[in-house]
Amino acid sequence: MISPVVRRVHDVDEAMVGALADVLTDCVDGGASVSFMLPLTRERATSFWRHVSDGVRAGHRALIVAEDDRGVCGTVQLIFDLPQNQPQRADVAKMLVHRRARRQGLGAALMKAAEATARECGKTLLVLDAVTDGDAARLYARLGWVRVGEIPNYALFPQGGFCSTTVFYRDLAR
Ligand SMILES: CC(C)(COP(=O)(O)OP(=O)(O)OC[C@H]1O[C@@H](n2cnc3c(N)ncnc32)[C@H](O)[C@@H]1OP(=O)(O)O)[C@@H](O)C(=O)NCCC(=O)NCCS
Repeated sequence: MISPVVRRVHDVDEAMVGALADVLTDCVDGGASVSFMLPLTRERATSFWRHVSDGVRAGHRALIVAEDDRGVCGTVQLIFDLPQNQPQRADVAKMLVHRRARRQGLGAALMKAAEATARECGKTLLVLDAVTDGDAARLYARLGWVRVGEIPNYALFPQGGFCSTTVFYRDLAR
């Protein structure tokens, strides 16, 4: 198996929308709390990525994807469309690794790429939130993100039932 290539995508065509919808669907089917409930329809998944595509074109988002020999297997985004008084920061969102590609260091590689892209774009502060004590929260803590605190009953798991979220930040200037 070829190890995944991680790259920033500036033009999200329909083939990429479909491939990203596949990754999102796999994560939601696997129980990840990433904004969507089950069942996640194809229409809802592709509509989300078309919205992301528009944001990338407008410069409101940076999209990073990982591809292996079977296609897109992971992704993460930086969101730049923030209030005017926060030009130094971005939100990190939709870190998704297909179940077939997990536990091989891809999540860490995607985050390193997101941080490098944020630096290239002149950002010094990143913020995100993740399900408390979940796989992602463990990954971010391991990569040096600072845990701010926990918000109980913040969101639902895709199959229902509340989960808490933990807010993290990363100071890229340090
Ligand atoms: C969270 C998520 C992105 C992590 O992706 P990943 O590619 O599995 O991440 P990594 O491989 O870098 O790290 C995961 C684990 O594999 C381990 N690992 C990394 N490389 C490894 C290797 N070569 N061999 C064995 N284990 C390895 C890491 O140490 C880590 O272990 P831990 O969970 O016990 O701490 C992924 O689980 C996912 O997409 N989840 C669903 C969506 C989601 O919740 N996204 C987060 C939104 S905030």
